[in-house]
Amino acid sequence: MKVGLLVGRESSFPEEFIKYVNSSNLGIEAEMVKVGGYKADELSKYSVIIDRISHEVPFYRSYLKAAALSGTAIINNPFWWSADDKFFGTALLERLGIAIPKTVLLPQRGYIDAITGESLRNLEFPLDWKAIVEYTGMPAIMKPFDGGGWKNVYKLDSLEELIYYYDRTGTICMMLQEFINFDRYVRCYTIGRKNVRIMPYDPSKPYLQGQYFLDKDYLDPKLEKRIIDDCIKLNEALGYDMNTAEFAIRDGIPYAIDFTNPAPDADLHSVGPENFKWMIEAMAELCASYAKGKHQANRDLKWSSFLNPKLVAAK
Ligand SMILES: Nc1ncnc2c1ncn2[C@@H]1O[C@H](COP(=O)(O)OP(=O)(O)O)[C@@H](O)[C@H]1O
Ligand SMILES: [Mg+2]
Repeated sequence: MKVGLLVGRESSFPEEFIKYVNSSNLGIEAEMVKVGGYKADELSKYSVIIDRISHEVPFYRSYLKAAALSGTAIINNPFWWSADDKFFGTALLERLGIAIPKTVLLPQRGYIDAITGESLRNLEFPLDWKAIVEYTGMPAIMKPFDGGGWKNVYKLDSLEELIYYYDRTGTICMMLQEFINFDRYVRCYTIGRKNVRIMPYDPSKPYLQGQYFLDKDYLDPKLEKRIIDDCIKLNEALGYDMNTAEFAIRDGIPYAIDFTNPAPDADLHSVGPENFKWMIEAMAELCASYAKGKHQANRDLKWSSFLNPKLVAAK
């Protein structure tokens, strides 16, 4: 039973994961995926593929969707990952009873050339900026509805500032969000939707310079339990098997800030050796349980009921 890794530039996670799995007695083997021209009738040899990069490489995304036709469990589900966005996630969490900052989706400022004023007849114009800002309050955060890596994230102190930066967002769809003036901040790995590790995190520090730190008394037990429950709830609902969720804590309430990170930071030098070890072991166990069919991977997709069960069971 083989586990394949599909990775980008990162170095510590793939190497260590492969080493760990291949010297363990979990009954699975791990290796880097190698793929070239992929045939439509090809059978994937992998029981599980861990995907860390298909959001940047469309060829990989399509390959993974096709590999799912062979019954390969893909972590994370490429179909859902393609459909997901941060605003939907925020609206979903609100319905799940998880605390979120007040958030508004904004129409894009710019469009491709082929789109003219006539193409946009459904849009309210001008926007009621006053009402929007009354809802979120100030300061506020403006960020892309499907961004990552802190790109195009703005903290804004006034309506004037908001308009100034909005006017420079081009074709990126943005959302405006209440700023949570937090006293603590955590980032949480959830592996297999149920296995949670809370990592105290200082977002004011630069990457690789002590953002993650260890403090077992950082949260009181009640708050810790609430965050663990929130992580499980949101990952069950979104169907992610490998994800991090960030919470900003204000007045003892954990507000979910950024919780769709399907290829989360897994660098030893960033998350630190303890978190890294936890993550490698949790991922290895999850892969083993999927490969051995102990847990059903995320195959609850309509087309799967039309497949020849023999082909899928071959995995
Ligand atoms: N609503 C908010 N309140 C307070 N801080 C925020 C808020 N949204 C984002 N931030 C800060 O900005 C950082 C980047 O935003 P985030 O939503 O995590 O985007 P990305 O997906 O690019 O990491 C967060 O780690 C946090 O420190
Ligand atoms: Mg983030």
